Amino acid sequence: MKVVILGLGSVGRGVAEQIAKKDLGITITGIADSKSGCIDNNGIDVTEVLETKRTTGVCGNKKISAPDILQKATYDVLIEVTPTNAITGEPALGYIKTALAHKKHVVTSNKGPIALAYRELMALAAKNGVALRYEATVGGAIPIMHTLEQGLAGNEIIALYGVLNGTCNYILTRMAAEGLTYEQALMEAREMGYAEADPTYDVKGIDAAIKLVILANTLWDNDAKLADVDLTGIDLLTPDALRLAEDEGCTIRLIAEASPCQHLLRVSPRIIEKDHPLVVDGTLNALTLETDMAKEITLIGRGAGSTPTASAIIGDLLCIRDRYDKRP
Ligand code: HSE
Repeated sequence: MKVVILGLGSVGRGVAEQIAKKDLGITITGIADSKSGCIDNNGIDVTEVLETKRTTGVCGNKKISAPDILQKATYDVLIEVTPTNAITGEPALGYIKTALAHKKHVVTSNKGPIALAYRELMALAAKNGVALRYEATVGGAIPIMHTLEQGLAGNEIIALYGVLNGTCNYILTRMAAEGLTYEQALMEAREMGYAEADPTYDVKGIDAAIKLVILANTLWDNDAKLADVDLTGIDLLTPDALRLAEDEGCTIRLIAEASPCQHLLRVSPRIIEKDHPLVVDGTLNALTLETDMAKEITLIGRGAGSTPTASAIIGDLLCIRDRYDKRP
């Protein structure tokens, strides 16, 4: 299976490294970062490209851009991991549409296009007989979409509740455990590289709300939009509020919740008992799915980071290979 990678930040690098390291039968024929690109339809030497990127800041030829790669490289799957734009979805949205229209599968970690144009993109993929997979957009390494498709197939999902933003969870954990101020904890989270480029997306709950929209559309196809989410962040939370919760044997977590029968789409800080399954520490994410047959299922795992996100992307790639590549 031949793939091209658009975006060579932390996620793109993680994916390229794992493809180079593991014998997965995947050949990379094109890579682009924001300033350059390289194409080799016989297979790129990934180690060399990553070293070039590390030492020079660019991965290849400055005359080759992401659109060139979509036009000129030979590939079966586009791995779209450019930075997220939650307002327009661009340029990722255009890249994804181009690939789907050319009957190429797409795997992405990019939340913007999926949250903004879910129905349009899924319809385009179906029309062209290809897959659009986005496991890495929600919950990092946690196999939420795979669990819904396979393990929970046939279940009705009645509601979901979860911790979907690692940065907020880290801040709340550090404020409660070490008595750090909100600003100190946010600075640490930024240093760890988990926060969005603009961390107000994290702390105002926007990132969690975008992920909630993606989950709601996946589960219920209800054309949910970011503006439909009742949103409160953690940016105004004080150490006193956390101390008061502690006094009651509780803590505070930023919880995303959705239930179609209650017309509920909400992200807000919630006081919860410390032994509740959603009280995970640090940058972990957690999601409880309430279903008719399996009842409650809670998934916990790393919600961000280069290699955990690469895990979700590679899971999607191998799913495509198994479903489409081996067709007679
Ligand atoms: N900023 C996000 C988080 C990264 O903290 O969860 C993963 O989407």
